[in-house]
Amino acid sequence: MSRRNKLEKFADLLSFSNVYEYSEKPREDGWLYNGVSNSILKGVWKNQHFENNHPLILELACGRGEYTCALSEKYPKLNFIGVDVKGARIWKGAKYALEHLPNAAFLRIRIEHIIHFFSSNEVDEIWITFPDPFLKDKKSNRRLTSPQFIERYKCFLKTDGIIHLKTDDDQLYEYTLEVIENAPELELIYQSNDIYKKELYTSDLEIKTYYEKKHLADGKKIKYIRSRILS
Ligand SMILES: C[S@@+](CC[C@H](N)C(=O)[O-])C[C@H]1O[C@@H](n2cnc3c(N)ncnc32)[C@H](O)[C@@H]1O
Repeated sequence: MSRRNKLEKFADLLSFSNVYEYSEKPREDGWLYNGVSNSILKGVWKNQHFENNHPLILELACGRGEYTCALSEKYPKLNFIGVDVKGARIWKGAKYALEHLPNAAFLRIRIEHIIHFFSSNEVDEIWITFPDPFLKDKKSNRRLTSPQFIERYKCFLKTDGIIHLKTDDDQLYEYTLEVIENAPELELIYQSNDIYKKELYTSDLEIKTYYEKKHLADGKKIKYIRSRILS
């Protein structure tokens, strides 16, 4: 990680053409992001930002954006947007993408507000990478795989769109399987409570984020769930 401090990074982000970040309050014409209103971006990310019509994939809780960058590099004919609220973290992936990856962008928002940025059928897949597990029951609706968040994703994920979860956390893993089991609109495609025990289900799982490396160093098992939205 660069030694540049947070304020310098925040200032940089405002000048990055691949980052859209929030103002604290919505304005009458929508939420303003680096001079672009969400009402302008919603539904037109591909044409407006990426200038193509390729599929769009989101990485939620992207942190430094390791998945966004690595998948963009691997799949130049797909568009990727990393979403996180922490600007100093996003900076790392955004800086790299600005110079090397025209098919990667970043959106700095609270994911609770995500339905204001993507319209129906705009998104093909969602990766959720090592999200905070919010282990206390009364905070369970803050988990990014809670029914409340799944409802939000349904607003913009295509039918048959895929949701990937990668986590180190046993409780979040079990909880997510339960959410899927109880949601008629979700279909479980694959689950593993220890992805490195055997050959990887997909080479996309090889990508290791900052938090994944920390969890592996602590001897934790990495878990993965792939599900599909049916409607
Ligand atoms: C444990 S870190 C994982 C970061 C990265 N995916 C990794 O694996 O290194 C969780 C990230 O989720 C982000 N996050 C948690 N809740 C969020 C929310 N409601 N909206 C936006 N970002 C959120 C945090 O800012 C943090 O960067």
